[in-house]
Amino acid sequence: MSFPQRRMRRLRSSDAIRQLVSEVRLAPEDLIFPMFVTTRPDVREPLGALPGMMLLSGAPLAEEAKRLLEAGIRAVLLFAVLDEPEKEPEAGLSRSPRGPVQRAIESIKAAAPEMTVIADLCMCEYSTDGHCGVLRDGVIDNDLTLERLQPAAVSLAAAGADVVAPSGMMDGVVGALRSALDSAGMQRTLLMPYAAKYASSLYGPFKSATRSAPAESRHATHQLDPANLRQALEEIRLDLEEGADMLIVKPALGYLDVVAAARREFNAPIAAYQVSGEYNMIHAAAGGDEQALERLILEMLTCIKRAGADMIITYFAPLAARVLRV
Ligand code: PBG
Ligand code: ZN
Repeated sequence: MSFPQRRMRRLRSSDAIRQLVSEVRLAPEDLIFPMFVTTRPDVREPLGALPGMMLLSGAPLAEEAKRLLEAGIRAVLLFAVLDEPEKEPEAGLSRSPRGPVQRAIESIKAAAPEMTVIADLCMCEYSTDGHCGVLRDGVIDNDLTLERLQPAAVSLAAAGADVVAPSGMMDGVVGALRSALDSAGMQRTLLMPYAAKYASSLYGPFKSATRSAPAESRHATHQLDPANLRQALEEIRLDLEEGADMLIVKPALGYLDVVAAARREFNAPIAAYQVSGEYNMIHAAAGGDEQALERLILEMLTCIKRAGADMIITYFAPLAARVLRV
């Protein structure tokens, strides 16, 4: 049947019908909020490069976690921001109970035990050179990096992390962390690798916010080339074989075909990461109009779900949750 009998516009004729036929629905529970934490006590200060985002620790961090739960956000993803003197060539604080993320997990769990805490794990935020792995003779030593990440994952789990999210795209990282966690009796800790993380230019604001930009980037030696989809699917397959519980595709915008292909090919839960450059792009596109910003955020997040993501990591989580609740 076709026109004039068939009229697709009937399906859009009222708000109620549009709601009934909507294929995906966004909820605050789908969202994961990234938070930036420091070892300095009781900090709440703006992170310049990401407008509206805060560097937090101690009591203000605990307060924020409680507010997020009230808003319906039930998971956060923690990133370390170190002061220059805290950095070491091999990222010592990443595997110390005194590390910023370990301490933050304790503050959050004490104040808001129901909050699911995901700990990002990469060396770049902790190392003097800002690379995602240990540098030997000018190259990132993959296997030595795994040895350094293993105790870090265990210390994050010991601090109370529910999920560890290795973000450095090292080969074999999921298997290495799974066996380290299991040997330490941490069988309950989930692994959520950045399975398909692209060497994107959309990470700029994050790199300056976390003061983790290396003098000279070697990202292209571990992160995926934006030209490649088949390679991304192979990365995902390997991570799942090594024991990944869930996986992350990153960035979101520009990479939704990867999300859609991963959704078709694998059964694991998928998170898409709407990264810092996307956050700033969306702000720019809204041009300072608060309502336009809200509409745009919901549109972009809906598109990410439509592509097949189960979860979305987004700096807009609190704002989106507020809009979704009204
Ligand atoms: C690595 C990491 C990065 C981001 C999340 N985890 C930066 C990078 O890979 O260079 C980027 C997130 C964003 O841009 O919002 N620890
Ligand atoms: Zn890194």
